[in-house]
Amino acid sequence: MAGNGDRNYLDKTLQQFESYPYPDIPIEDPLNKDVEQLYKSSLVTARYRRDKKIITDLEDCAILDVACGTGATTLQLAWANPGAKIVGVDISPESVKIAEKRLRYHGFENTEFHVLAIADLNELNQKFDLINASDVLYLLPNLALTLKQLAQVLQPDGVLRGNLHSYYQRFNYYRAQTLFQRMGLMEDNPEETELGIARGFYAALRDEVNLKATTWSSDQEKIDNDQWILMNHLFQNDKGYTLPELFDALAQSDLALVDMVDWQKWDWRKLFKEPDNLPAYLAMGLENADREEQLCFYELVQPDKRLLDFWCSHPLPSKKDFSEYWLERPLEEIIVHLHPRVENFAPFRQAILDQGKLMPLNLFHCFPFIGQDSWLDRTLLTAFYAPLLDSPQTVESLVSRYLQVRPCYPADLTPVRPEEAQDLIIGMIAEQEEWGLIMLEAGIPRF
Ligand SMILES: C[S@@+](CC[C@H](N)C(=O)[O-])C[C@H]1O[C@@H](n2cnc3c(N)ncnc32)[C@H](O)[C@@H]1O
Repeated sequence: MAGNGDRNYLDKTLQQFESYPYPDIPIEDPLNKDVEQLYKSSLVTARYRRDKKIITDLEDCAILDVACGTGATTLQLAWANPGAKIVGVDISPESVKIAEKRLRYHGFENTEFHVLAIADLNELNQKFDLINASDVLYLLPNLALTLKQLAQVLQPDGVLRGNLHSYYQRFNYYRAQTLFQRMGLMEDNPEETELGIARGFYAALRDEVNLKATTWSSDQEKIDNDQWILMNHLFQNDKGYTLPELFDALAQSDLALVDMVDWQKWDWRKLFKEPDNLPAYLAMGLENADREEQLCFYELVQPDKRLLDFWCSHPLPSKKDFSEYWLERPLEEIIVHLHPRVENFAPFRQAILDQGKLMPLNLFHCFPFIGQDSWLDRTLLTAFYAPLLDSPQTVESLVSRYLQVRPCYPADLTPVRPEEAQDLIIGMIAEQEEWGLIMLEAGIPRF
């Protein structure tokens, strides 16, 4: 089997990215508007998902962007983790040059860049709190070996984010790639001639022919975009994976799955019309299945994501869910924090603090990563989130705030009882924590 340092194998990938560094985005583009990308790139998100630890100071943290390309992901990591040291590596010198320029242009000084292959990461003599390996793992011939090489430079409590192309979601592109391999377009590095042949081939096909209907576009801008074709139809060494293959590779490399990065969207309940009214064998089977089994079920039923985007880490103690972890503690010990990427997102802040607004708010419009519509009553939303925008809160203080805002029921003016308010706030905490908007800390209030 080819090792990851295998020169012939790497050469094809290297040639492709030397001639077309990825992504082709102007250096001046700030790339920091996408709250979803910032949220997913944040070490705070990953560590809380791993072990419920809230990281507040990133000054001593080091983050590695493996296969950084032209630095778009590196810049996202820098915006998402203020104060952390950022290191970028890639085998393509041209890409590294652009990445370095990009970070400098945006004023990030605490950075380092190296032309380096994943197989040689040990040469950095450093370990990292967060490793990001975006859109690269599926290009290497031996996934378990690659993961092992990454694990060697991961701190004992660090988190590795990786992603793989989904075999089921991209199945049609793999057909196109196989065809273009047979046509000889991918023997050498695909360039203008090969791009022209691919475009000509699709133009000649009838629109309703399956390959064209599933892998081509009617959008002329897309068709004219070399990178779209190179990263899909003519992608050298591209390989699709399934979740069982990923889990197998993690096991072989002594790493444990933390969760999918878009865990909110991998919910089997959302696949059913009436999830609370399923045949018993199905409901019990799914409820009792372990997390990996539930994810595999979802993948087979609804392979709608291009990437299997995951966090993993060195093996971790078994994770408890909200009720096991928090509800067995006295309420006065639980402190609720806002996730910093939520707190700093100006449109959300504005929506919460705007006194004139009474209509319910759909949190999904602010935070698409929660993966579902979530219309929330404005009174509850404001009573809950306005104090959190100021500082972390105890559960008690959130309950008393709610009672101040809504002391009685509007229909008959009977008072809202403290136990009712408490149940409502606890329900809200459980839901918002599962979506990842708030984080909980156990401890004596420090403020
Ligand atoms: C599709 S690009 C992804 C760039 C960036 N991570 C992103 O998501 O925007 C893949 C990158 O992986 C780099 N690459 C491929 N194999 C590599 C290896 N073995 N070691 C380091 N970099 C590699 C390529 O040079 C290319 O820049």
